[in-house]
Amino acid sequence: MVRMQVNQSVPLNEDVFDAIERVKNEKNAVILAHYYQDPDIQDLADHLGDSLKLAQLAQKSQADVILFCGVHFMAETAKILNPTRTVIIPDLNAGCSLADSCPAPMLKAYKAQHPDHMVVSYINCSAGVKALSDVICTSSNAEKIIGAIPEDKKILFTPDQHLGRYLMEKTGRDMKLWQGSCIVHEIFSEREILALKQKHPQADLIAHPECAQAILKHADHVGSTTSLLQYAAVTDTQELIVATEEGILHQMQKGAPNKTFIQAPTQEGCACNVCPHMRLNTLEKIYQALVTLEPAIEMEETLRLRAALPLERMLQITAGEDVDWSTP
Ligand code: 13P
Ligand code: SF4
Repeated sequence: MVRMQVNQSVPLNEDVFDAIERVKNEKNAVILAHYYQDPDIQDLADHLGDSLKLAQLAQKSQADVILFCGVHFMAETAKILNPTRTVIIPDLNAGCSLADSCPAPMLKAYKAQHPDHMVVSYINCSAGVKALSDVICTSSNAEKIIGAIPEDKKILFTPDQHLGRYLMEKTGRDMKLWQGSCIVHEIFSEREILALKQKHPQADLIAHPECAQAILKHADHVGSTTSLLQYAAVTDTQELIVATEEGILHQMQKGAPNKTFIQAPTQEGCACNVCPHMRLNTLEKIYQALVTLEPAIEMEETLRLRAALPLERMLQITAGEDVDWSTP
């Protein structure tokens, strides 16, 4: 039997924003978006946030459908924390170079050789890696999470080597570092940034800790996307050079309309500070996902339960609660 192809494009006589709002209400959906999404997507989202805030919102959501405008590991995290909701993502190919740099089978083999190490994983990793981890962190709470790990434990930090090195410096804790990195944050050029600082001597450099040490050592402020936004809003400095994904400038400008934000330079002529994964999501794909409720995030329940454990520990530590480290 030949199945009729149903046209799921936005109706020609309807504005795309109105169409998304209409279907969102019909499906009792909530739209969560990360700061690295296109400005239009940021503006239509019900909630905007960094990785931690979005995970917390997803866990508590009462909506039937969570449409996650971010990348795959974020939507997967939402499903792990709130499995009875339908979690959809506009484009299933929206992955993450950092998450890809730590395949679960490689981590499993490493763990087998180093059974005395606790595994702390940055949330930018797959459900398979979460399931092999003792606790998860984000860039907002990483110092607090490291601080909660018993002093006598050895730590393997995955997958971001730059965040891991930065945390070692901040916490004084020695850690083995997985050698992963983010293609967007690794591309900033120290030489070009220093040249830009010379042209703008009053400007502060603010940077996400996924950047390499060569960039972070020049930064006036290092922090998560939320922390960078807060700093940008309150600092007296009127000019800021911003070393993270370009999408954040939209909210920075809204929070401080009179300040000047300059995207930190990469190699000449390269627009590599735009995350190619994040930007796969479009308004048209958002509409289609809401109409079809696909692509939906699904996973085996045993994997979900094992991946939920380190995520729940992270949320407990973030909330100031004690955690039980005894469960393997
Ligand atoms: P935060 O949202 O924790 O700042 O991390 C940024 C990021 O890498 C998202 O992919
Ligand atoms: Fe992954 Fe980097 Fe894109 Fe964030 S910005 S989703 S870490 S590739």
